[in-house]
Amino acid sequence: MGGSMVTGYVLKRLRPTTPAFRALMEESRLEGYWMLVRLADGWASRRNRFLKHGEALFGVWHGREVVGVCGLNIAPYFDGRELGRVRHLFVSAQHRRNGVGRMLVETVVDRARRHFAALNTRAPQEAFAFYEGLGFGPVKGEEFVTHRMKFETKSAVGRKGD
Ligand SMILES: CC(C)(COP(=O)(O)OP(=O)(O)OC[C@H]1O[C@@H](n2cnc3c(N)ncnc32)[C@H](O)[C@@H]1OP(=O)(O)O)[C@@H](O)C(=O)NCCC(=O)NCCS
Repeated sequence: MGGSMVTGYVLKRLRPTTPAFRALMEESRLEGYWMLVRLADGWASRRNRFLKHGEALFGVWHGREVVGVCGLNIAPYFDGRELGRVRHLFVSAQHRRNGVGRMLVETVVDRARRHFAALNTRAPQEAFAFYEGLGFGPVKGEEFVTHRMKFETKSAVGRKGD
């Protein structure tokens, strides 16, 4: 697989069974974030292996280290249209503000745009500025969604060459 590159960072599909993932998971847990632990649990139990329509799990490598993770899951929607959901976003503290989070979320957005009507996320307060800077709009009054990016409908864009 190709993978994109920004100054020594390489983005690829991730399998959380890779030993380098465990180190980042430990780091996140020590910082008080549980998203990578939940990711590993969901994978181990086969509850979530990012295999449904449109789904994917990405990692960013710096040398042999995994320094960032982000997943795209389906979130079924009440009117029958499928929405995407940003899941398990985490960037190693030493690598923050280097564009790794942007690389991950822009990759997820590009993929989600091809499959879903919109992309949701539930971000902690400290990530609000990050999501809003990437073009997500704040969402009020929804328990599990703090931010959303809406995509143009396929009919408006046209399906040719899709
Ligand atoms: C939120 C997080 C993923 C951002 O990752 P990152 O690699 O540092 O983000 P980037 O370097 O790509 O930032 C892109 C832009 O977002 C904005 N941004 C990122 N972090 C920010 C912060 N703490 N405060 C304000 N703006 C921020 C900036 O505009 C930044 O661009 P700039 O550095 O040129 O100013 C990372 O800080 C993290 O993992 N935090 C802990 C876990 C977490 O909050 N996860 C989100 C769960 S939904």
